[in-house]
Amino acid sequence: MTDSGIESLLQEDRLFPPSDEFAAQANAQAKVYDEGDDDFVAYWTRQALERITWFKEPTETLDDSNAPFFKWWADGELNIAYNCLDRHLETGGDKVAYHWIGEPGDTRTITYQQLSDDVNRFANGLRSLGVEKGDKVAIYMGMVPELAVAMLACARIGAPHSVIFGGFSAESIIDRVVDQDAKVLITCDGAWRRGSTIPLKDNCDTAMESTPSIEHCIVYERTKQDISMTEGRDVWWHDLVADQSTNCEPEVMGAEDLLYILYTSGTTAKPKGIMHTTGGYITGAVTTHSLVFDIKPETDVYWCAADIGWVTGHTYIVYGPLANHTTSVMYEGTPDYPEKDRLWSIVEEYGVTILYTAPTAIRAFMKWGAEYPKSRDLSSLRLLGSVGEPINPEAWMWYHEHIGSSNCPIVDTWWQTETGSIMISPLPGVTTTKPGSATKAIPGIAAEVVDKAGVPVPLGSGGFLTITKPWPAMLRSIYGDDDRYISTYWSEYEGRYFAGDGAKIDEDGYLWILGRVDDVMNISGHRISTMEVESALVSHPAVAESAVVGAADSLTGQAIVAFVTLRRGFEDSDDLNDELRKHVAIKIGAIARPKSIIFTPDLPKTRSGKIMRRLLRDISENRSLGDITTLANAEIVSAIASQAEALRSED
Ligand code: WT7
Repeated sequence: MTDSGIESLLQEDRLFPPSDEFAAQANAQAKVYDEGDDDFVAYWTRQALERITWFKEPTETLDDSNAPFFKWWADGELNIAYNCLDRHLETGGDKVAYHWIGEPGDTRTITYQQLSDDVNRFANGLRSLGVEKGDKVAIYMGMVPELAVAMLACARIGAPHSVIFGGFSAESIIDRVVDQDAKVLITCDGAWRRGSTIPLKDNCDTAMESTPSIEHCIVYERTKQDISMTEGRDVWWHDLVADQSTNCEPEVMGAEDLLYILYTSGTTAKPKGIMHTTGGYITGAVTTHSLVFDIKPETDVYWCAADIGWVTGHTYIVYGPLANHTTSVMYEGTPDYPEKDRLWSIVEEYGVTILYTAPTAIRAFMKWGAEYPKSRDLSSLRLLGSVGEPINPEAWMWYHEHIGSSNCPIVDTWWQTETGSIMISPLPGVTTTKPGSATKAIPGIAAEVVDKAGVPVPLGSGGFLTITKPWPAMLRSIYGDDDRYISTYWSEYEGRYFAGDGAKIDEDGYLWILGRVDDVMNISGHRISTMEVESALVSHPAVAESAVVGAADSLTGQAIVAFVTLRRGFEDSDDLNDELRKHVAIKIGAIARPKSIIFTPDLPKTRSGKIMRRLLRDISENRSLGDITTLANAEIVSAIASQAEALRSED
């Protein structure tokens, strides 16, 4: 290792080569890597021309004359809603676009033709309110099909949308609406969550006291709860579309016209409005969706169990699957309502073939126990995906065995809101996987791990993950702040996109994402990733989930403090505490042995399911906690804090 990199301790030797059967039918064949490497611009341009229907095909390709403000196919013209809907209708209008399942148990089956009719009517409705190309539309809804309808209607008329996750507060709506001067806000009366409702419209009402740019608020009726409607400003969705025609001429969009802004929720700083444009984004979405998920539009029932409020839902629930004419499942609620087998009952009922979820969900399934998936028939599944955080090898194995019956390839997909589409992932049928590794950059993408000086590290070492060539679905800037775009992503390492993640590259050239570099610890001068210590802990049969932080220590600079959640059937005790510390030392080395372990029933998470290590660091170092309202489970924090306090007084 180099002193300026990150040390890597975790050893994982299990290998999972693709089966012959899967390989024989796979969309991706090994030669796509060569095609992507030979000439990445030609490779992506071929994808753009073959997979997308253009009103005017581009003659320009990559324009890097004003880097890092790259342009792709700038003289091409297209419309994304046309690509997601119209082009499928002649032969495939009857095909199901979404099997939608409401949390209370109501269901809807929506064909491409019906979705198209809804989108056209709503797009005409937006136009009737004066929304024109370039006007910004904010969307704050639950997981109802109308959320996808609203996005596609915006895309149809060229009004950039900005989806605000339905779990966010009125304050978050204000920040985002004000930043972009949105003209219209689309919401629901409320959203179902574990049998009760979230007051979406009430939150909008509070927000709209401070958002002068909003001219209209459109309200879709979902929960039928009491809300107030302000005359002249607020309009019911059903009234707006009642007399609209199912014909709405799509706007002709330039490839570099803005499609959407999606804000990344920074925990402290102002949220960044990540800008995605039209031609490059949809090319990245359809290509990766087809190759990474091996989509067979005729037979697959595909389910990305994310929320559309995150980029995962934008790219892999709405744009990628629809442009690929896929049949998807869309589910409104949480995995544990009304029972902890909800996802598995849906897989069984709809014959889901491809499931894409997050490590945080997989670790919850592990904690609840294997009897829930076992009680259902999951034999329709043929491919599994993971996204959002590093997946610990043991969680990977659990997913493989208990959900995939040991015969589904797993694609661990690394990407970001900023990258727009998947960047690092196995190609199923081609790549031999290793539990916990996202493997390699996909064809047409170039990733390198570098040290502090920006020099690629040798195989077997850790460092900082960078992307060395532009790619079609990349963010174009931060809305209203080009300087911040440059300083955040392009200034750390000359000529490279820096994602903010640590990674190691192993002897075979496989990439192992080590998590955000802010989470790297420094123990007696050794830079160690929290993720590896967490993975070592999760490899113990008693542990379901763990979060590790480096807390200031007078002796070692930082000392490792581990927060641990146990699997069902295990009790915390001093013996187990010792055993776990020893287990880590054996698994990855004495340097990584936690100084203390704190047992807790749950870990503090952001609403997108990421563990909030910053907060745990504050708790460990006895600092005041600041704003915790962005947490999904704020109530757990005081319990953890008092445990930590008790531990300190023992010392
Ligand atoms: C950050 C981006 C991309 C959709 C969801 C998250 C982490 C994401 C992986 C993975 C390890 C991962 C990274 C990344 N991350 N996928 N497969 N393995 N880490 O989007 O909220 O923009 O977060 O999520 O730290 O930088 P996001």
